[in-house]
Amino acid sequence: MRRRSPARERFLFPKEPALSLAALLGRPMFGGPKLGEGWGVTYGHSARYALHRLLVSMPRTLRDEVLVPAYACIALVEPILAAGYKVRFFDNPSITGTDLGLVGSLMTERTLALVAIHYFGYRQDTTELATLCRDRGVLLLENFTHSLPVRDFIEHADELRHCDIALFSLKKMLPVPDGGFAVHRSSLRIAAEVAEPPPRLEIARELYRAAERSLGSRRWRPSGGAGDAPPNPRLMPQPADLVAEIAASMHSLDRARVDWGVSTTSRRMWASVDLDAVVGLRRRNFALIRKALAGMPGVEFPFRDAPEEACLWGVPFLTPGVRDVDYRLRSLGIPVFTFARALHPLLGPTGFGQARSWAEELKLLPVHQDITPEDIGHIRPAFEAALRPSP
Ligand SMILES: Cc1ncc(COP(=O)(O)O)c(C=O)c1O
Repeated sequence: MRRRSPARERFLFPKEPALSLAALLGRPMFGGPKLGEGWGVTYGHSARYALHRLLVSMPRTLRDEVLVPAYACIALVEPILAAGYKVRFFDNPSITGTDLGLVGSLMTERTLALVAIHYFGYRQDTTELATLCRDRGVLLLENFTHSLPVRDFIEHADELRHCDIALFSLKKMLPVPDGGFAVHRSSLRIAAEVAEPPPRLEIARELYRAAERSLGSRRWRPSGGAGDAPPNPRLMPQPADLVAEIAASMHSLDRARVDWGVSTTSRRMWASVDLDAVVGLRRRNFALIRKALAGMPGVEFPFRDAPEEACLWGVPFLTPGVRDVDYRLRSLGIPVFTFARALHPLLGPTGFGQARSWAEELKLLPVHQDITPEDIGHIRPAFEAALRPSP
C-alpha cells in the first residue's frame, strides 16, 4: 500500500500554478518588452545573469564601486563582483525608502551606481534619490525583481521614470522556468552580445522542478523521514553556517549560464499569461491575509499597507520575541519564506545591525495567484498554534 505522507510534509497550498500546455507550446511568440526611444534591454538566464551581462558589456571607467543595501540577496551581489566591480554595502534604515544622507555620504568619484530595491513589491519613491544620483554622476539601478515583470514600458513609463537601469526577474512572479532582464538607457552604450539560447535539457529540468512543485510534491526531502534521509532544511532550524552554505549554493553565479538568454518557453509563457489577473489575485490574497491576521496578538506588519498600484511578492511580518516561527509555520503546512536570510559574507561578522535584524526576523507569507481563499483560511489557526507557548 502506498504510504501517505503526513500533512506536515505537504504544504497546504502549492507555490506554483499548474503549467498549461497552451502556454508551453502555443502562440504567440514574444519578441521582448515594448520600450520607448532611448532605451535598450539585456536578457539573461535570470535577473542576476542579466545584471552580470549588462555590467560586463558596459564601457569601463574609473568608477568601479556599486553601493548596495546590506539587506540584499547574495544573488544580487555575486554578479556585480563577478563583473569586476567592488560592492560597498550600506545599512539602510527603511524598507520603503533610501536614506539620502547616508548614501550621499558614501558616494565618491569611484561610485558607478547605487542600487535601490523595491522590496517585496513595495515601491520606493525614487524622485529625490534620482536627483541626488544625477548630481553626483552616479547611475540609479532600481531593482524590480520582487515586482511583476511588465511587457510594455510605454504603457508603464513610470517604472523607468527615475532610473538608469531597471532589473526584473521572470521567475519570482510567474511560473516560468528561467528568465530575467535589465532595461537601460541607450546612453550607457551597453552592447551585450546576442544571448545564446539555453540548452533545452537544462530548461526541461527547470520546468520539471516547477511542475514538481505545482503537483504538491515538494522539492525538499521529507524531514525526520525513514532511514538515512537528511533533515528537511525547510522544516527544522539549521545552524547558521549551514544556512549560509545553502544560501551560497542557491544564489551563486554559475559561469556556465552567463551567456544564456531567456528560453523560448519562458518567453511564450510571459507573453500568454494574463498579467492583470495575476495582479488582481495577488491583491485579493494580500487583503485576505491582512484580514485573517488582523488583531492577532504577537504578529506585526512592519510596513505600510500595499499601495493601490502594488502587486506584492509576499506579505512581510514580524513575531517579536518568537524565534524560528517560519519553521514552525512551514511544518504546519504554511509555505512561509524568508528573504536574504543569509547576508553576503563580505559584510563580515559585525555591523549592519538593521540588515541583520531584518534578515533574522522578517518573514513573508506568499500571496501567490494560485492561493485560494480556502487556503488562506488555514493561516490564522496555524499562527495560533505556532505562537502558542509550549507547555
Ligand atoms: C533583490 C534581488 N535582486 C536580484 C535577485 C536575483 O534574481 P534571480 O534569482 O532572478 O537571478 C534576487 C533573487 O533572489 C533578489 O531578491
